[in-house]
Amino acid sequence: MYLVCRALWSLVGLFACFGATVNAANVLEIDLIFPRNDTYAPTDRSNNASWFPIVFAIQNAELARHLKLSFDTHMWNYSNMDTFGFADHDLTDANYTNEPYFVYHHLKIDTEGSYSLLSKVFWQKCNKTGDQVSIDRTSTNFGVDLTIKKGAQGVDLVATTAEKKTCSTKDGIAFNVTNETYEVPPSKNSYYRSHLLDGTCVVLATTSPTPTANPCKVKVGTAVVASMSASLHARLCKDLYPPADCPKDDAVQKLAVTGVASFVVALGAIGFLLA
Ligand SMILES: *[C@@H]1O[C@H](CO)[C@@H](O)[C@H](O)[C@H]1NC(C)=O
Ligand SMILES: *[C@@H]1O[C@H](CO)[C@@H](O)[C@H](O)[C@H]1NC(C)=O
Ligand SMILES: *[C@@H]1O[C@H](CO)[C@@H](O)[C@H](O)[C@H]1NC(C)=O
Ligand SMILES: *[C@@H]1O[C@H](CO)[C@@H](O)[C@H](O)[C@H]1NC(C)=O
Ligand SMILES: *[C@@H]1O[C@H](CO)[C@@H](O)[C@H](O)[C@H]1NC(C)=O
Ligand SMILES: *[C@@H]1O[C@H](CO)[C@@H](O)[C@H](O)[C@H]1NC(C)=O
Ligand SMILES: *[C@@H]1O[C@H](CO)[C@@H](O)[C@H](O)[C@H]1NC(C)=O
Repeated sequence: MYLVCRALWSLVGLFACFGATVNAANVLEIDLIFPRNDTYAPTDRSNNASWFPIVFAIQNAELARHLKLSFDTHMWNYSNMDTFGFADHDLTDANYTNEPYFVYHHLKIDTEGSYSLLSKVFWQKCNKTGDQVSIDRTSTNFGVDLTIKKGAQGVDLVATTAEKKTCSTKDGIAFNVTNETYEVPPSKNSYYRSHLLDGTCVVLATTSPTPTANPCKVKVGTAVVASMSASLHARLCKDLYPPADCPKDDAVQKLAVTGVASFVVALGAIGFLLA
């Protein structure tokens, strides 16, 4: 992508850039891929490969570059009305080299019952009003109810995404990302959760109708599943009490982990080209 920039002299120090996007596609989409509103078998305490995945996908991920996406998730346990499994993914420095781009982590849910995955996706954009441009940070919530029951289906991301069963458009959000970006001077930036918002923002088109999300389009292939498992395994091997099948020589790399960190492992983001 090349940029055509010009100073907007009416606006002190403000630069507008219009990038010629190589790809014609201008709709960025963020989807909750897994879990679905469905019933799953509990994770098996004795089998570290049975951790439960939480998976988001970013479609046309390259368009997310200036959105500084981040994801916060946790689970709600209806049996004790309490939360567990908090995880944060900050994609500020993500390169989005793969398409679609998967954001995931794993949890243990080894007790039968009703649960809800509660997640919040944050992004930033230019707030352009007249000749004033500032940066806004905003968010949306995704939630999905699930049931854990002995004897139910195990987790199978490939099968789940191959069938469109239990996939609904409300599990995704789509943005029309324009080719217009601004460099906003620091004095015009606002603070968000103690972070100074970055100087580059992109304008999101407010065309009507807004683009519709299509999370059912994302298929998880076996290579993606293998990569997620490898990432989970590598993470568990750095644990204080690693699984038996870890490479023996990386004892020095072991990290002490907190109670929370041992619940949420393999925070990762990968992308794959799916044929
Ligand atoms: C930016 O997008 C607008 C409208 O989508 C288009 O008319 C314009 O040619 C684009 N600019 C560049 C440099 O690609
Ligand atoms: C989940 O699925 C059940 C059974 O199909 C349905 O009754 C319920 O409304 C669904 N919940 C959500 C939040 O979609
Ligand atoms: C993104 O790419 C840059 C330059 O190649 C690299 O320094 C950086 O570590 C990469 N970021 C991530 C999260 O991989
Ligand atoms: C959910 O709450 C029940 C009741 O306190 C508890 O037995 C169960 O272990 C909790 N589930 C998880 C995954 O923590
Ligand atoms: C956008 O900018 C305008 C004026 O610069 C300001 O009044 C408004 O509060 C901003 N919107 C948000 C959501 O911050
Ligand atoms: C995205 O916004 C541009 C500029 O407003 C508009 O021309 C285009 O049709 C929109 N695309 C979609 C898919 O809504
Ligand atoms: C699974 O991993 C945990 C640490 O995360 C470890 O304590 C446990 O021994 C492992 N279990 C097996 C069967 O490898």
